[in-house]
Amino acid sequence: MKKPGFDLGMANSPEGGESGMLDRLPVLSWYAHTRGWKFVLAWVHRIFGLLLIFFLLFHVYILSFLPEPSLYTVKWATYDTLFFRFMEWILAVPLIFHALNGGRLMLYESFGQRDDRQMIVWGFSLGFIYLFLLGFFMVTGQHEEVSPLFYWLNILIISLAFTYYLYRRIWDTPNSKLWKFQRISGGFLFVMLPAHMLFMHISYPTGHQAAVIANRMQHFPMMMMDAVLMIAVLYHAAFGVYSIIEDYLGNRFLRGGLAVLLLLLTLYFGFIGLKLAFYLA
Ligand code: HEM
Repeated sequence: MKKPGFDLGMANSPEGGESGMLDRLPVLSWYAHTRGWKFVLAWVHRIFGLLLIFFLLFHVYILSFLPEPSLYTVKWATYDTLFFRFMEWILAVPLIFHALNGGRLMLYESFGQRDDRQMIVWGFSLGFIYLFLLGFFMVTGQHEEVSPLFYWLNILIISLAFTYYLYRRIWDTPNSKLWKFQRISGGFLFVMLPAHMLFMHISYPTGHQAAVIANRMQHFPMMMMDAVLMIAVLYHAAFGVYSIIEDYLGNRFLRGGLAVLLLLLTLYFGFIGLKLAFYLA
């Protein structure tokens, strides 16, 4: 029987089914009808994951100027245009999609939650609320400086509780340790990354002025948190890229070579990231 409420096109079957909101989207709906919505979701998740890696590298590049505040200010001023501010806001779309779809997968794999329709309604609702809040902070941007310690203590407690719960669910499963770490890092990022982006926009100087950033980063708990966040993102992204390589490359030697290259790149960016996190130590 058809459930009440709006139909996203996955109500009766995730592999196509009745026409609904999603079924009317151009291109995507064609793939959905030929390959199924799960295929489309997995691809969008993958593409957005790769897009986030590009943003991460760009982000680290800009931040690498922080040790020289005047240079950082000049660099940042180049990108501080209406267009880039819009891009910064719209970046929340791939982040939120990837986070919520990743959360859906984790609920699916580890908690047996398989009601796709309910998850999509939740996903859209949470995503829109988050986008609205972020846009609101970005446009108003003049709030009192929020206490970083207070904010991050709360976020860290929520995030660690969530990560621990996930860890307990998956640690004894027969999957490889590397896979489990990727899911665990995803669980940690699920709360931390949207919170990180929100925090940077609660007040404009918090996320954009070298002096304010440096002032925050000189505290040891902040250094540690940035370092852990950096390690979690890098590991998660590197394992993600490795799973994509594994899916498409049959040749063992080529796969091994690319895995080594990926490891070296991850270590290199990890080194730059850690140097940055502790540059005031
Ligand atoms: C915000 C919190 C995040 C959550 C909850 C999350 C969750 C997940 C999950 C569950 C997967 C496995 C998908 C699968 O096996 O089909 C995954 C894959 C991936 N993630 Fe994330 N992720 C997050 C953030 C990020 C970030 C920030 C990046 C990049 C910097 C990233 C890059 C990737 C990549 C490249 C993959 C591989 C895609 C694939 O195999 O289809 N993720 N993520």
